[in-house]
Amino acid sequence: MAVTGAVLVLFLIAHMVGNLKIFLGAESFNSYAEWLRTVGEPAVPARTVLTLTEIVLAGAVALHMWSAVSLARRASKARPVKYVARRKSQASGYVVRTMRYGGVIIVLFVIWHLLDLTFGTVNPKGFGATPYDRVVAGFDPSRWWVTAFYLVALVMVGLHLRHGLWSAFQTLGLTSGGRRRTLNLFAAVFSTLLVLGFVAVPIAVMIGAVK
Ligand code: HEM
Repeated sequence: MAVTGAVLVLFLIAHMVGNLKIFLGAESFNSYAEWLRTVGEPAVPARTVLTLTEIVLAGAVALHMWSAVSLARRASKARPVKYVARRKSQASGYVVRTMRYGGVIIVLFVIWHLLDLTFGTVNPKGFGATPYDRVVAGFDPSRWWVTAFYLVALVMVGLHLRHGLWSAFQTLGLTSGGRRRTLNLFAAVFSTLLVLGFVAVPIAVMIGAVK
């Protein structure tokens, strides 16, 4: 869970920072998107590094989900009879639901997101347009429902990340003693900053600051 989660967190940081290039203008954003396709040239053909990254990402998502299902199965096998007392704890109720259903929403979001901004299938400008034009058309105010879906999914990403980071810190045994509060705060602040960085783009297009 933790290793694949870490790969996905690194991707999210890089993706969020890359997205912010949109504030530097169309040329900067598009040349960054072009660089993603050509990085490694001429040592390796175009798209080699990108394709390898995509394979690692897809593998990390699949293994992350597989670990989640097998850990949940192992937990229910170890405790086939439910607890009589329903104590509110870190590992129950709200957190479990956020991680499970939040995870499913994030997967659905990524599928929509790929059809929208990578393949252009559900984007008004289609595949032929530049990445910048696809983003601007995708978050056009007339498609407010797309932006709303993105915002809900991004909040899910934030909650998922916050709990995921916290769990990873616990697994590594870092949360004992006085570090507990600091690490909890770190997980919350890190997740909030990441979500705000992502949210900035659709909001900027919605209000016409990026057009
Ligand atoms: C508002 C937030 C976001 C914006 C504006 C955005 C924008 C983009 C754009 C423009 C692309 C296409 C890049 C290109 O064709 O060169 C892309 C690809 C992608 N995005 Fe996002 N993204 C956002 C959030 C996310 C989130 C939260 C995730 C994951 C949970 C994600 C996962 C991906 C993936 C997996 C790809 C495909 C990368 C590839 O294989 O080429 N994105 N995004």
